[in-house]
Amino acid sequence: MSDTKSVVITDSIAGKSAELPILRGTMGAACVDIGKLPKETGYFTYDQGFVATASCRSAITYIDGDEGVLLYRGYPIQQLAKGSSFLEVAYLLMNGELPDAQQFAGFEHEVTHHTMMHEAFKNFLGGFRHDAHPMAMLCGMVGSLAAFYHEGLDMEDPEQRRMAAVRLIAKVPTIAAACYRYSIGWPVRYPRNNLEFVTRFLHMMFEVPSGPLNLPPVAAKALDLLFILHADHEQNASTSTVRLVGSTGANPYAAVAAGIAALWGPAHGGANEAVLKMLGEIGTPDQVGKAVEKAKDKNSGFRLMGFGHRVYKNYDPRASIIREMTHKVLTDLGVNDPLLEVAMRLEEAALKDDYFVSRKLYPNVDFYSGLIYKALGLPTEMFTVMFAIARTAGWVSHWLEQQADPEAKIGRPRQIYTGATPRDYVPISAR
Ligand code: ACO
Repeated sequence: MSDTKSVVITDSIAGKSAELPILRGTMGAACVDIGKLPKETGYFTYDQGFVATASCRSAITYIDGDEGVLLYRGYPIQQLAKGSSFLEVAYLLMNGELPDAQQFAGFEHEVTHHTMMHEAFKNFLGGFRHDAHPMAMLCGMVGSLAAFYHEGLDMEDPEQRRMAAVRLIAKVPTIAAACYRYSIGWPVRYPRNNLEFVTRFLHMMFEVPSGPLNLPPVAAKALDLLFILHADHEQNASTSTVRLVGSTGANPYAAVAAGIAALWGPAHGGANEAVLKMLGEIGTPDQVGKAVEKAKDKNSGFRLMGFGHRVYKNYDPRASIIREMTHKVLTDLGVNDPLLEVAMRLEEAALKDDYFVSRKLYPNVDFYSGLIYKALGLPTEMFTVMFAIARTAGWVSHWLEQQADPEAKIGRPRQIYTGATPRDYVPISAR
């Protein structure tokens, strides 16, 4: 890396220039600080989709998309996936360091004792149509948390901010499970304090009042792994949405509800649902070739869901871990899902095809995750909800970091105006 300290931008025709400082983090590409460009030259910058723009400084997650590296607070995702748990990762993301045994016990106790939903939530739930998409319900219900916890919304108080973050990590799984049970007409199940985070969630989802739930050990293990892998991913669309809302001083429940809405899109977290639909439509391994051809045809409007990533131009490290777990889950549960074969053939065909190779399109985190969710008995509509439960840990960590950042400003991009130039209003009678 060069040690250039600044770059000079010159408009030789207008005779204006600006010297712009170069900013560096501890790792990764350096950035040109363009903050004073408009004042010194009258120019703004244009970066549709933020492909070249850093929106903040952050010490939470690091990605090297070319090398396929993902670190949470410096720890490689592979090591966390192997040795940690989702709740420990949530603590790490929020606090910057791994907890010792006492700190972890304190955090677990706190999360466990904030899992209940206010009873009035059940009335709120009852207002939805029985066939409402669970992401729509989750988005509305998480946003409404501010109406229940408005006494703890002094955002100048770090302790109230921390408590809001803990509440979100604790309550989103309860709300998510309640949405699912409402959609299938089952009574809402209260969270059980004697269970750990992921197992408690599985009980809230699947336990029936009439009998005990016998969970195969691989179910909690696989879900915990998926939650770890989905917990954070630096400034992705939903996290950037949370930060944009957070930058206005809005409360974290509103910010996370906005994050959930952003996550829902098929180009982002909704891809896991879209992958399963796509695999189902492809149907059998012999149809894979046709699907690959269709994805290459720009006029078809069809893309291989679960393929490609804005940052990874190499195998998404999370995808390799999930791929391995998919085989284990299906084997342990004795599930013979023909869609796994379709997925593997599709991956193989795409990775050999020059279209995908030249554009560096690899399977992303969502390519295999849906097969695990399906094997665990989750309906397709719940897949993105699972992602939201995990990503809540990342969203609240970014929100906390932003609220404490002395450099943070309200997010307010500019535009290239392409509309009409000034013209006179004409009364309707004269038009
Ligand atoms: N199938 C076929 N072609 C693709 C795909 C795909 N999945 N993804 C990208 N391409 C092609 C584009 O058509 C484009 O081709 P061109 O250069 O000939 O025009 C090129 O690859 C670059 O694609 P962009 O859309 O410019 O890449 P961008 O970084 O904007 O998009 C995205 C990334 C949205 C993830 C894209 O790859 C995509 O739509 N993938 C499918 C949806 C998906 O899996 N999303 C989940 C992402 S991971 C997550 O959010 C958790």
